[in-house]
Amino acid sequence: MKDDVCIRNLEKDFGGFKAINNLSLRVKHGEIYGLLGPNGAGKTTAIKILCGLLRPSSGEAYVLGTKVPDPGMASSVGYMPQELALYRNLTVHENLAFYGEVFGLSKKEIETREQALLKLVDLEASKDVLIDELSGGMQHRISLACTLLHEPQLLFLDEPTVGVDPDLRATFWRYFEGLRDAGITMLITTHYMDEARHCDRIGFMRDGRIIAEGSPQELLELTHTDSLEDAFLAYSRTEGLQ
Ligand SMILES: Nc1ncnc2c1ncn2[C@@H]1O[C@H](COP(=O)(O)OP(=O)(O)OP(=O)(O)O)[C@@H](O)[C@H]1O
Ligand SMILES: [Mg+2]
Repeated sequence: MKDDVCIRNLEKDFGGFKAINNLSLRVKHGEIYGLLGPNGAGKTTAIKILCGLLRPSSGEAYVLGTKVPDPGMASSVGYMPQELALYRNLTVHENLAFYGEVFGLSKKEIETREQALLKLVDLEASKDVLIDELSGGMQHRISLACTLLHEPQLLFLDEPTVGVDPDLRATFWRYFEGLRDAGITMLITTHYMDEARHCDRIGFMRDGRIIAEGSPQELLELTHTDSLEDAFLAYSRTEGLQ
């Protein structure tokens, strides 16, 4: 199976501080890869490099077979940033219509997809509400809808479920699994260790690099733990001893 993301010996320095430190990883076509790690581990920095928003200091990264940065890949890739990228003084519909137009969708396509996505995020009734008037969790749900609008084949989702209530988080994961089953590849970061079990493979990230990688089951078995949180702590302790 080909790799949709391939990162080799990537480094990113911010004024002498290595946010990404010899990072290598591959995301296979059609899998959900979860990047897990504490605040400051470098997850967002890695995703921004993959989306072409930051230039690496050294090493290389390929997305859908093309070396990044490459502006040509925008239509194939969806990026949900950790920080909100919505126009706060526009309505939900106006935001979706804006993103739809940016990606060259017709009015009809925007209308059909908007309807389906607002149903997914359970905000059909808020179509004409200003973003500013929605709660933080609701804004996050609209951000996910905007990311999915142009039906990208590869998704970078940076904390897509943060602030979203448990029922809807479960719905999101069922949806992500459905996308995966339809052949969409996803690289997802999350702080909720429990929901990472939905990923096909997980990379535990710390200090800018991967300290362990495998399926959730493999990571639990290898560390003789029964939660991914404990598995992460076990790897983190081992690292500390090296
Ligand atoms: N533009 C920047 N200039 C300087 N340092 C930065 C910059 N962006 C990120 N960093 C630093 O790089 C490190 C990694 O940050 P990053 O945002 O990638 O972490 P993260 O794993 O996404 O954390 P979180 O879980 O809090 O979202 C942090 O120490 C951060 O302070
Ligand atoms: Mg982050």
